[in-house]
Amino acid sequence: MKFFIDTANLDQIRDAQELGVLDGVTTNPSLMAKEGITGRNNILKHYVDICNIVDGDVSAEVIATDLKGMIREGEELSELHDQIVVKVPMIRDGVKALKYFSDKGIRTNCTLVFSPGQALLAAKAGATYVSPFLGRLDDVSTDGLNLIAEIRLIYDNYDFQTQILAASIRHTMHVIDCAKLGADVMTGPLSSIEGLLKHPLTDIGLAKFLEDYKKGN
Ligand code: E4P
Repeated sequence: MKFFIDTANLDQIRDAQELGVLDGVTTNPSLMAKEGITGRNNILKHYVDICNIVDGDVSAEVIATDLKGMIREGEELSELHDQIVVKVPMIRDGVKALKYFSDKGIRTNCTLVFSPGQALLAAKAGATYVSPFLGRLDDVSTDGLNLIAEIRLIYDNYDFQTQILAASIRHTMHVIDCAKLGADVMTGPLSSIEGLLKHPLTDIGLAKFLEDYKKGN
């Protein structure tokens, strides 16, 4: 399972990278705005800064919602750095753009996916990644994890190569559950990854080992 961090905050990206288990970064326009990154040039520069911190894939989202605009922006983004994956929304022109980029060998992440049908379309259009937003489904009393399971079943039935990128992860149990269901990738806040290492018995056990060592030395 690949671990992506879902942020545009460079300090958090550096922290995650230093942990040694980071495989990539996802961003979106809201995460960029949260960091105060505005204006096309600053946004493009920020993507390059992120690519220079991490080794893996960095999702960069198009803003246009028409096919021509998405193609123009996506090509510009993909030329920024070879780690860039063009993030395209699951809308009608988005499906066409996914197919266009796929035919040109430009890697894509189909975002804002909330149903198995949308995920099937993304795979048919040749998306590299599909991003089901499980946390946002949970927010509206719908089982987000069930969507991950449904997409896994469909992709396995037909051997689709599109990778399931479980997005909108909110906490560590989402990560564990997605791993059990066979999601290829998770993206979430740094806390959802760091939560994996915590266990009180580890802390208690380590304290005892150190105490016993001191007794004998
Ligand atoms: C995915 O790529 C999105 O950036 C993200 O996971 C959305 O998460 P949120 O629902 O916590 O905003």
